[in-house]
Amino acid sequence: MAYEFSKVSNRIFGSEIREILKWTRKPGVISFGGGLPDAALFPIQDIIDITRDVLEKKGYLALQYGPTPGEEEFQEALIAHMAEFGDNAKKEQLCVTSSSQQGLDLLSLMFLDEDSPIIVELPSYLGGLQAFRRCGADMRGIHMDHAGMDIDHMERVLDDLQKEGKKPRFIYSIPDFQNPSGITMSLERRKRLIEIAQKREIPLLEDSPYRELSFIGEVLPSLWTLSGGKGVIQLRTFSKILFPGMRMGWIVADELFIKKIVLLKQSVDLCTPSFSQLILAEYISRGRMKRSIEKAIQRYRPKLEAMLTALDKYMPKEVKWSKPTGGMFLWLTLPERIDTKEIFMTAIEHNVAYVIGRPFHCDRSGGNTMRLNYSFPSVEQIEKGISYLAEAIKSIL
Ligand SMILES: Cc1ncc(COP(=O)(O)O)c(C=O)c1O
Repeated sequence: MAYEFSKVSNRIFGSEIREILKWTRKPGVISFGGGLPDAALFPIQDIIDITRDVLEKKGYLALQYGPTPGEEEFQEALIAHMAEFGDNAKKEQLCVTSSSQQGLDLLSLMFLDEDSPIIVELPSYLGGLQAFRRCGADMRGIHMDHAGMDIDHMERVLDDLQKEGKKPRFIYSIPDFQNPSGITMSLERRKRLIEIAQKREIPLLEDSPYRELSFIGEVLPSLWTLSGGKGVIQLRTFSKILFPGMRMGWIVADELFIKKIVLLKQSVDLCTPSFSQLILAEYISRGRMKRSIEKAIQRYRPKLEAMLTALDKYMPKEVKWSKPTGGMFLWLTLPERIDTKEIFMTAIEHNVAYVIGRPFHCDRSGGNTMRLNYSFPSVEQIEKGISYLAEAIKSIL
């Protein structure tokens, strides 16, 4: 059949991660593969109660079309929620989205043409890379270390681009407990990043789904706050701190950006469901969100500790890993000669699965890395799974 498809659709191809993660369904395999929250945390009864209340009291609003930037009540709840974590925003600076992934979609539509240069971290969030690749972006990767993006490297890449007569459309960063690496950007680097972005007039996309999940009782000031809102577009979501099933997120940015985002969103889905917004607004105003986040931290902290302890105990010394202080992921680096895709089936034979690192790198480097998730498996599974993984790696070394 000679159907013709768009260039955009032809740039999307099946993920090699999805292909190999099929193996996680093999009975007995402990998976560190997905990025799912622990379903034991889902506040099912609260949502049942609030849903009934919302339908009884505001059904006429909940089941209607709503304003594109979001229901006023929900926006007020978002402002209160942000303030709990040190960020201030006004209603005009918000646009509710169907989760962060829609935010990434809208921002790609807003900024990218074919071959538009952008700056991303090495490694970076797969869904972000996919959205940018779909638009044909020319992605330039920046190395990371334990303190986040290497800003000196970024400056060199910006200078190189300048020599080519190019300016990046944006810099994409995940500064808090990054997916996939678990790394948090230091305060000093945050400040330098903002200074450079502002001086060169490059927008900064701050994607921060894990910001609230700090296990050490503190969270660094966001890029949004440090920049005074100038040139930073922040993406937020309830997927990781509450549940992903309602697909609820929001963008925080200068009004200039929000106006454009709102117009683009109208062309995509008109509005995010009012029903879900009113339920979550009530959830937040009843003080439930704060409690949910505390519970998530209490549940995930011991899991991370169990993973770090097991890694110390079992892993051969050639293997290195990140030491996250929050979020859901940890990053393993093996000796250069080892390709984590090639040894994946050996891991499956040892009854353990992970996510290979290369797809997180826009330049296809990182073949010797892998991502481990600790939010979904139990503490017991984490201990066992890491010992299996260590055995698999030792059998190859
Ligand atoms: C860094 C980052 N951004 C965005 C998303 C998308 O999340 P959602 O669309 O569920 O809000 C994720 C999900 O894993 C993520 O890790």
